Amino acid sequence: MVVARHRVQSGIQYCGLGVVNCPRLPNFDKSNGYEEIAPLFVPGRGSNTSGVGASVVAEWSQRLPRGAAILDLGCGTGVPISQVLIERGFKVYGVDASPSMVAAFQARFPNVPVECAAVEDSDLFGRTFDGAVAWGLFFLLDIGVQRRLIAKIAGVLGRTGKLVFTSPSQESSWQDAMTGRTSISLGYEAYRQTLESAGMSLVGTRRDLGDNHYYIAEKR
Ligand SMILES: C[S@@+](CC[C@H](N)C(=O)[O-])C[C@H]1O[C@@H](n2cnc3c(N)ncnc32)[C@H](O)[C@@H]1O
Repeated sequence: MVVARHRVQSGIQYCGLGVVNCPRLPNFDKSNGYEEIAPLFVPGRGSNTSGVGASVVAEWSQRLPRGAAILDLGCGTGVPISQVLIERGFKVYGVDASPSMVAAFQARFPNVPVECAAVEDSDLFGRTFDGAVAWGLFFLLDIGVQRRLIAKIAGVLGRTGKLVFTSPSQESSWQDAMTGRTSISLGYEAYRQTLESAGMSLVGTRRDLGDNHYYIAEKR
């Protein structure tokens, strides 16, 4: 089984968890600062199996067919989001731009396919999915990248495909608490319109105990 995919132009990336072959141009971090703070993230949220978000994603997954294939975009270590899906029998495929996160994911889930790549560059395994989840990813990306990512996800979701992603309901920008980089939310109306343009409908929203806001969408 394929457990990791790396692009041809990969170089050697040194990280806290060892040496990982991973694409990375000098001084150009596609993980939006998360590779740098991985030594803090991996033993923190990245190891907390009861971390915030798991229950909302578990509830969302109940509407997917048994054994469905689910893309976890910006999967991090896979804990807790991929994990809660794997435990429910779904076929998870992870993508993350941070080599250290991917190394931690592979160590924990050696039989689950994971690609070390930026979501905007990835071919998303060149297949279709029943569902896609992106917890804590969208707002790290530039506005144009967020819009294109929604269209890209819609393109790999099957006829009844479902998407859940987190981002604040208000159009806003702020400093990411861990990396200090600027995060941007397009806000409810712009996400709704972008989903509509991509052939998806925004069918609901949720909020969790950590005050994270979830957008839930389905293919039309
Ligand atoms: C806030 S963390 C969330 C990780 C995980 N989803 C979770 O629930 O713990 C954001 C993740 O997105 C990844 N990331 C940031 N920019 C990315 C990009 N352009 N492509 C792929 N992954 C990216 C980071 O490396 C990090 O693992």
